[in-house]
Amino acid sequence: LPSSLTDTATIVNTANIVDQVRGAPTDGTPPGLPQASTMITALDGELGLSNISTAGSAPNGSRRRDLSDGYEQVFEGTPDNDAPIVGTAYLTYILVSNSSYEQGRSECLAHCSNTDGCVFTNMYYEKNNPLYDHVFPEKSNLKCVLFGDVHTADEKDYSWNQQLNTSTNGAIKIQYSSGYASVNIEELTVPSGYELVFGPISAANNAPGYMGFAFLNKYDVSACAKLCDTRGTDSAGGVCQYFNIWRAIIQNKPRTYTCAMYYLPTDNSTATNTGQGPLSVTRSRGYRRISYVVDGGFEDYTCPDNGDFCFTESGAGWVGTSSNGTDDATIFHYAPYARTGAGVGLLGSAFGSDPYAGLLTASISRKLVAGRSYLLQFFHSSTYSGEQLEANAFVVVLWNGRIVGSIGGYSPWRYFTFTVQAQGGGNDTLAFAGGTAPAYDFLDDVSLFLLD
Ligand SMILES: *[C@@H]1O[C@H](CO)[C@@H](O)[C@H](O)[C@H]1NC(C)=O
Ligand SMILES: *[C@@H]1O[C@H](CO)[C@@H](O)[C@H](O)[C@H]1NC(C)=O
Ligand SMILES: *[C@@H]1O[C@H](CO)[C@@H](O)[C@H](O)[C@H]1NC(C)=O
Ligand SMILES: *[C@@H]1O[C@H](CO)[C@@H](O)[C@H](O)[C@H]1NC(C)=O
Ligand SMILES: *[C@@H]1O[C@H](CO)[C@@H](O)[C@H](O)[C@H]1NC(C)=O
Ligand SMILES: *[C@@H]1O[C@H](CO)[C@@H](O)[C@H](O)[C@H]1NC(C)=O
Ligand SMILES: *[C@@H]1O[C@H](CO)[C@@H](O)[C@H](O)[C@H]1NC(C)=O
Repeated sequence: LPSSLTDTATIVNTANIVDQVRGAPTDGTPPGLPQASTMITALDGELGLSNISTAGSAPNGSRRRDLSDGYEQVFEGTPDNDAPIVGTAYLTYILVSNSSYEQGRSECLAHCSNTDGCVFTNMYYEKNNPLYDHVFPEKSNLKCVLFGDVHTADEKDYSWNQQLNTSTNGAIKIQYSSGYASVNIEELTVPSGYELVFGPISAANNAPGYMGFAFLNKYDVSACAKLCDTRGTDSAGGVCQYFNIWRAIIQNKPRTYTCAMYYLPTDNSTATNTGQGPLSVTRSRGYRRISYVVDGGFEDYTCPDNGDFCFTESGAGWVGTSSNGTDDATIFHYAPYARTGAGVGLLGSAFGSDPYAGLLTASISRKLVAGRSYLLQFFHSSTYSGEQLEANAFVVVLWNGRIVGSIGGYSPWRYFTFTVQAQGGGNDTLAFAGGTAPAYDFLDDVSLFLLD
């Protein structure tokens, strides 16, 4: 099967030019706004800001941490010539009480603890900004800036001081710019319909079945899952089934958050890319889309004595039924017939002894959620007997006993997708009817994924 490997060169080249660092605004943006939703900063090598469709399932399970959660100081501020952090994963800012630095800090850390994804605060006085002196109701010049990633004093941007001046009050002055990081290991919510395969480690996947990448403005696993869900299809490989999210560090500063997508699931055995030149890979995690079809690849059935050719009417997860003839629906273990691996499902009399259709019934691995949509994907081939004899090949897809689709005629391996609704209660069924020997239909790599 043709499939391309991760395009690491384009990822690295784009990471070198993407600019997604930010500090808190100094303009009329009021304090205390909810953090903006995660944005794409580059897509497949093209720089540009774009939204991620958040229609449908909201990421669930966001964690509220206790106020008792600890923070450690990453750097201290100075009374003169200090500067704010300009870094990745800016979330929002608030003005905290400036009655004392300690009071302000405790308000600031509490706010971080109550903000999704906040792991770091940069707090400083911004003096001579008339908005804080006269306009915003907090009447405080002590600014608390929240970030979704930990930053260091190296990321203080002294060029801001020159830009921040006003005609009325003279230059804005930044003082006592300190940084605090949460000491708790962040527990990330696994997006629904996915499972964590590995991580965090300091190596990214270099794997086949690559479908492209996006840079995110923060480390947002749910946003990456959403991109995988909505990626569309690869003409050979079908839908996205796996993603690898990781943070790029360049010269010790967080630079961007890569979301790389694949139509072939992989694991840590292909996580070999630790970085190039000044770029290093950190916080790399792999997530696989869960398929609810048991043994969708027909791989569990094997031949006695390690033989390479055998077939059966029922194997792990699959049951073949022949209502008129014999062996009209079977599971083969024979690599030349399979799309991937050695197993494949066959519709049409295995011995060619009758022209009747067979029925292959799948097992669903768990109770589906009533009312939710699922994406059925499978691969089909009907080339075995040649173009002429396969003209009558056909497969009917049955979901809960009802026809949801049908395909027919001569065709090499090709994917098909159908959206189905679950009735739940463990009562959902999936079956394929078809084949009329010598017009055979082969099925492989059957998956059922949760949609919105
Ligand atoms: C993103 O979406 C928001 C609201 O849905 C909209 O206000 C904003 O303009 C969009 N931004 C871009 C870059 O498309
Ligand atoms: C989130 O999950 C909890 C329990 O797991 C559930 O009670 C709640 O309804 C869910 N919220 C959303 C928005 O799905
Ligand atoms: C607190 O901030 C307000 C608004 O900027 C300012 O007028 C006031 O002098 C500050 N108080 C202290 C003690 O720094
Ligand atoms: C800030 O001051 C510099 C010179 O000190 C000036 O060139 C610049 O235009 C000023 N910026 C603003 C926003 O007033
Ligand atoms: C890959 O992950 C497995 C656990 O899933 C672990 O046992 C193994 O050591 C890891 N291999 C590498 C190379 O990190
Ligand atoms: C079984 O045979 C009957 C009568 O020939 C036919 O109507 C029916 O469609 C056949 N069933 C299958 C599954 O081929
Ligand atoms: C599932 O099937 C069982 C037994 O046939 C039935 O009692 C139950 O109501 C069904 N559940 C749903 C959600 O249809």
